[in-house]
Amino acid sequence: MRINRLFLLGCALSAAALALSGRAQTDAGIPQLQKQGSATQLIVDGKPFLVLSGELSNNAATSLESMEPIWPRVVAGNLNTVLVGVSWAQFEPEEGKFDYSLVDGVIAGARANHLHLVLLWFASWKNGTSSYAPYWVKKDYLRFPRIQIGEGKTVSITGPIETLSTFGDANSDADAAAFAALMRHIKEVDGTQHTVLMMQVENEVGVLRDSRDRSPAANRAYAGQIPAELMNYLEAHKDNLIPELREVWAANGYKKSGTWEEVFGPGKPATVEVPLATTSALLGLMEHEGDWLKWKWPSDEIFMAWNYSRYLEKVVHAGKAEYNIPMFVNTWLQSRDEAWPGSYPSGGPLPEVHDIWRAGAPELEILAPDIHIEYFDDVCARYLRNGNPLFIPETSTNSANVIMAVGKYNTIGFSPFGVDSVRPVTSDLASTYAILSQLSPIILAHQGFDTMTAVRMNKGDPPKQVKLGNYTLTLTYTGRNTFLPLQPKGGVAISPRFADPEAGMATPLEAAAILIATGPDEYYFAGGGFRVDFTPNIPGPPNAGLGVVQEGKFVDGKWVVTRQLAGDDDGQGEILTLRPNTILRVLLYRLP
Ligand code: DGJ
Repeated sequence: MRINRLFLLGCALSAAALALSGRAQTDAGIPQLQKQGSATQLIVDGKPFLVLSGELSNNAATSLESMEPIWPRVVAGNLNTVLVGVSWAQFEPEEGKFDYSLVDGVIAGARANHLHLVLLWFASWKNGTSSYAPYWVKKDYLRFPRIQIGEGKTVSITGPIETLSTFGDANSDADAAAFAALMRHIKEVDGTQHTVLMMQVENEVGVLRDSRDRSPAANRAYAGQIPAELMNYLEAHKDNLIPELREVWAANGYKKSGTWEEVFGPGKPATVEVPLATTSALLGLMEHEGDWLKWKWPSDEIFMAWNYSRYLEKVVHAGKAEYNIPMFVNTWLQSRDEAWPGSYPSGGPLPEVHDIWRAGAPELEILAPDIHIEYFDDVCARYLRNGNPLFIPETSTNSANVIMAVGKYNTIGFSPFGVDSVRPVTSDLASTYAILSQLSPIILAHQGFDTMTAVRMNKGDPPKQVKLGNYTLTLTYTGRNTFLPLQPKGGVAISPRFADPEAGMATPLEAAAILIATGPDEYYFAGGGFRVDFTPNIPGPPNAGLGVVQEGKFVDGKWVVTRQLAGDDDGQGEILTLRPNTILRVLLYRLP
């Protein structure tokens, strides 16, 4: 699909008009998700919104005083949204008595700083355990049941397991009632202003230190038949199930009913202890290095995924009945050092159990990855399967990752964890956020279509070819601090002072850029560290020339040229080099 410039100009102008007229004041502007091509976008006040964000450390918003110095730092980092935790313990200090002061203060603080919020409901579970449950819940272990691990233990290596069980309606009733009160209040104070964009429900749920809950109620359910609702869902979606899940179901003969182990194979014997970390000493070097991704004890994880998803569906349903904005659940992913279910929370929305979560929690729109592992692109791709919208609530500040997430994986948003503390926004990320924010009307107009992509490259990578619009682009790594390419097309060497663009740099940085074909001969590029050569891919003269090369910025959605490049800056008209944190507009022409 091709999108012409007039259309994009229209988008930019209507964005500017909306900004001038102030926010739409009707409920029609309530945050919601909408499909565009292969992408899912967050629509706020009737237009798509790119969430350029950061998550605060867990307890940053436990007092308004603690938030005071944080707001200016967030603004300086060019964030447009902040992810902020809301503690159930503080929100409902006494059963049925809600304290709205912190939520109100955080919303007011965000508005004063022209920021949006995504609120994180730290309630029944936070990183698997239940440290944010109110005191009245924690101390009443008879009314609010806890999980048991191993052979009936409630005490782990590190101490008591403060983990509420998914079994027992008292837990989910209490959580759902509090969440409903929160959503009712957010609607009252924000239903027309839309400062709050989305809600994260709980945080990294799943059983730790064992592969499943082994309380008596859990054991009874595990020994019983798989609920018909789940089996019916799997039957109905058999052809499109995530391959990992399909494989374990196929291995046991695609049974249509039975116990969890009859349908999905054996679980972990209670006597096998799950270590806190799966180190190479424990797994053996080979498994630690390569084999760790294989799925251990799938029936335990599927069983827990079903029970967590049913629980969360109840909470989400209660919240959405009050105020229906997009909601998501985040994932503690499997990694080499947390390779077994239980060393990562078992039953969380990991890629292999996405179908179980879809069946169990149909009102939860997004299954979101916390990407603290090195396989960023792989995780993005796995979280886009079966139409799951991508949103990344926790990750690092790597600016190449945000470029890839936005340009290639159509993410709704990107959010490094701990931006107020352990992971301050770097100047590199702040600059990247600035260019993405300027370019966002164009990015959002192209998300989900084949007119936009992103590429990352490292030193030593061979050139990459990308077919985009009417040209095939050959990208050659030049390094992030390059101001000129090494060789013009004819092979004539440029002045030796440009010979090693990375001389003096200890670690050459990864290069990444978003590439957008905005017209038959027009491109916008954001970011870089590449040289780009163009080859026409539609009939006509075989060569491409650089017609116009402009460096610039968008002001109120309008392209403003800051430098028109020729001479030294484009290899005397022959070479285009993309530089980090720079936006270029290029017009090409064809020649024999
Ligand atoms: C992941 C959790 O979701 C966060 O809340 C925080 O605890 C980080 N881990 C700490 O690295």
